[in-house]
Amino acid sequence: MPGYGLIGAQWGDEGKGKVVDYLAERAQWVVRYAGGNNAGHTVINEQGSFSLHLVPSGIFRNHVSCVIGNGVVVDPDVFLSEIEALTARGIDTKKIYLSDRAHLIMPYHVLLDKLEEKDRGDDPIGTTEKGVGPAYVDKTNRSGIRVGDLYDPSNLLSRLATVVEHKNALLTKVYQVSPVNLDDIFQRCMVWAQKLDPFVQSTELLLHDALDRNETLILEGAQGTLLDLDHGTYPYVTSSSSSIGGALPGLGFPPQAIAGVIGVFKAYCTRVGSGPFPTEMTDNTADQLRERAWEYGTTTGRARRIGWFDAVAARYSQNINGFTSLVLTRLDVLDGFDPIKICVGYDTNGTTINRFPSSSGILEKCTPVYEEMSGWSKPTAGITKANQLPQEAAAYISRLEKLIGSEFHMISTGPHRDETILIKSLME
Ligand code: GDP
Ligand code: IMO
Ligand code: MG
Repeated sequence: MPGYGLIGAQWGDEGKGKVVDYLAERAQWVVRYAGGNNAGHTVINEQGSFSLHLVPSGIFRNHVSCVIGNGVVVDPDVFLSEIEALTARGIDTKKIYLSDRAHLIMPYHVLLDKLEEKDRGDDPIGTTEKGVGPAYVDKTNRSGIRVGDLYDPSNLLSRLATVVEHKNALLTKVYQVSPVNLDDIFQRCMVWAQKLDPFVQSTELLLHDALDRNETLILEGAQGTLLDLDHGTYPYVTSSSSSIGGALPGLGFPPQAIAGVIGVFKAYCTRVGSGPFPTEMTDNTADQLRERAWEYGTTTGRARRIGWFDAVAARYSQNINGFTSLVLTRLDVLDGFDPIKICVGYDTNGTTINRFPSSSGILEKCTPVYEEMSGWSKPTAGITKANQLPQEAAAYISRLEKLIGSEFHMISTGPHRDETILIKSLME
């Protein structure tokens, strides 16, 4: 029963979209289990260049069915416009299934995300302001509206009336802004019910049938392990379980059906939004790297913060997820940088630690202990064979493997599907 998790191993934007698009050649299903349209997954292949926010990155393979699982929070307008944009570009979107148990991001969630961020003053989380956090709050509080609720209008109206009354008290009394209108929201829900209808399914049943047929599934993670609600740099995290742990509740997936967990690491680190980032570069290397790699958010366009590879955090990520194989992306971005640094420990008050602290306050005060490695002068960009890698690049990869405690089975040397070195099969 082969399901393979594909997980961001750092702070998101590791290149998951590219890797899923590549691996989907050998899968029948690509399924999202957590997050919402805070995600931005870039895919570049013969069909063009695409930014996906909700639609799984397997959509470009005609034989693949895509699922948006119950653990995802869905903004229906974003979903529908993504489908429309893909269809307009000739991509077949018929095999996308949306869980009837997935929670909806409602207009008041988007509003509250913005207001809460503003209210955090000079200590914001730096959310994507897509309403993801407030939607998960309502899910946990049992006041969320699910996709399936759209098809029971009288029950929906009475539940919405209660929720909207509460949201309006919050909006007008706490945030002192205008209330939202119940009728408008209900009418919007009725339009969504009709437009979403072709996609809605009890997706866990589809997946169980697929497992019975022994089909291969890729569980496409969004965000990254260090943004995980429990295991990330709380409170500067997202509101869902982005590590492999989220895949079971987020899909109704049995644990023994997970045959492997693939961890995707960038050859350096980036982070969007606030929060501790021990290896963040403070010199102009960061600007050089950002411009060369175009490290700007796929979802919000914000400049990504840049840092050297953090092997302490990487080892932690390995332990949280139990990666059975690793992918290294964006190796080409380091072409020409010399020396290249790897963080192998944190200095805190004169003591070196090599375990990832649970407190963001402590992490904020940690100074990285670096090991330096020689850069390479011959470019790696576009290389497709491991034996063509410059010796220094191969040494860098080996050192990372040693520090993380797992092996890279794929190296990505460019954003295009074909700019890939496959060392060993990741799904078998
Ligand atoms: P995701 O959220 O993990 O899917 O990653 P994003 O798509 O947000 O960000 C990764 C960026 O890196 C995208 O612009 C990709 O096109 C690009 N990318 C992926 N792999 C490589 C690579 O090996 N080299 C280069 N130069 N770019 C890459
Ligand atoms: P992909 O799937 C990078 C970050 C935001 C913010 C924090 C909380 O493309 O890797 P949220 O809107 O989730 O409440 O914001 O999480 N964040 C991401 N950073 N890549 C992502 O997704 C992210 N999704 C959320 O910047 O710091
Ligand atoms: Mg991204």
